[in-house]
Amino acid sequence: MEFTPEVKIATDPIYQKISKVMPEIEWSIHAPFIHRINQLKKEKNAIVLAHNYQTPEIYHGIADLAADSLALAIEASKTKADIILMAGVHFMAETSKLMSPEKKVLLPDMNAGCSLSSSITGKDVRLLKEKYPGVPVVSYVNTSAEVKAETDICCTSANAVKIVESLGVKKVIFLPDDYLAKYVASQTNVEIIAWKGICMVHEQFNEKEIHDIRASNPGIKIIAHPECPPDVIKASDFAGSTGGMIKYVEDNQPKKVMMVTECSMSDNIQVENPNIEFIRPCNLCPHMKKITLPKILDCLEKETGEIIMDKKIIEKARIPVERMAAIGR
Ligand code: 13P
Ligand code: SF4
Repeated sequence: MEFTPEVKIATDPIYQKISKVMPEIEWSIHAPFIHRINQLKKEKNAIVLAHNYQTPEIYHGIADLAADSLALAIEASKTKADIILMAGVHFMAETSKLMSPEKKVLLPDMNAGCSLSSSITGKDVRLLKEKYPGVPVVSYVNTSAEVKAETDICCTSANAVKIVESLGVKKVIFLPDDYLAKYVASQTNVEIIAWKGICMVHEQFNEKEIHDIRASNPGIKIIAHPECPPDVIKASDFAGSTGGMIKYVEDNQPKKVMMVTECSMSDNIQVENPNIEFIRPCNLCPHMKKITLPKILDCLEKETGEIIMDKKIIEKARIPVERMAAIGR
């Protein structure tokens, strides 16, 4: 793929936007892929949905929607495109398929998983339901369709507390993220029965790191994802989903901020907030980082990596996602 004058002209408006977070030499590698992917999207009536953790060249270069897991799940049910390419991880692509079963949903790397999603199976949920008969199951969208099929209602970190309280019960089974469960428990009187799943990215942050950063950066705002350990959240100024964290930065325009989450978030948000200084201790999600421009191009060209699911699973697993979408953010 060559960085021809034609590619340069066609992609320059995008580069002007993101030049603060990307050197020109790096852009010359990405631009030919961005140009071809954007052409192919038109030819095939395809859209790219990207999670906020994708790298800037994907987030700003080819995504039709770049957002948090909740917005991605809802958008899949609204699009008029024939093909949805998920620049995210496997459970996100599956959720798109559940919401739009008649569409072709593609994932550029089938090994892009999630430590939360792989921490629990449908059988585990059936055993939990036997142990706690009659207690409703709230599952994070970071679960397989098999787990969703055993679930009463889904949630994301953007609406977990609202979803739990919407059920009007005293007790819920909340899975699989133990830290998110603890965060929800801290915000509600509903009793939470949790599972021991952990996000391998957010569990790496620790309270000392937060205090050290605050001590050496007076006035800094520290905002954390609720998948972080409880002491990290406690030491932070705000906790919210990736979408909530972005909104916090945009609304409050802090002079200096640290986003306690995946590395690409700060780069992506810096673009629209050039006057904010981002302090960037962060952790990479190895699953999100499996998605690259060359893999996206190959996937869209050959229409490989299609999400194929059993019709019965789709019918069952769609219900809790639709219930979540009806409640919203
Ligand atoms: P949200 O975008 O819902 O905050 O999800 C964070 C995450 O870790 C997704 O994998
Ligand atoms: Fe899963 Fe954590 Fe990666 Fe999100 S960041 S995909 S929750 S492992």
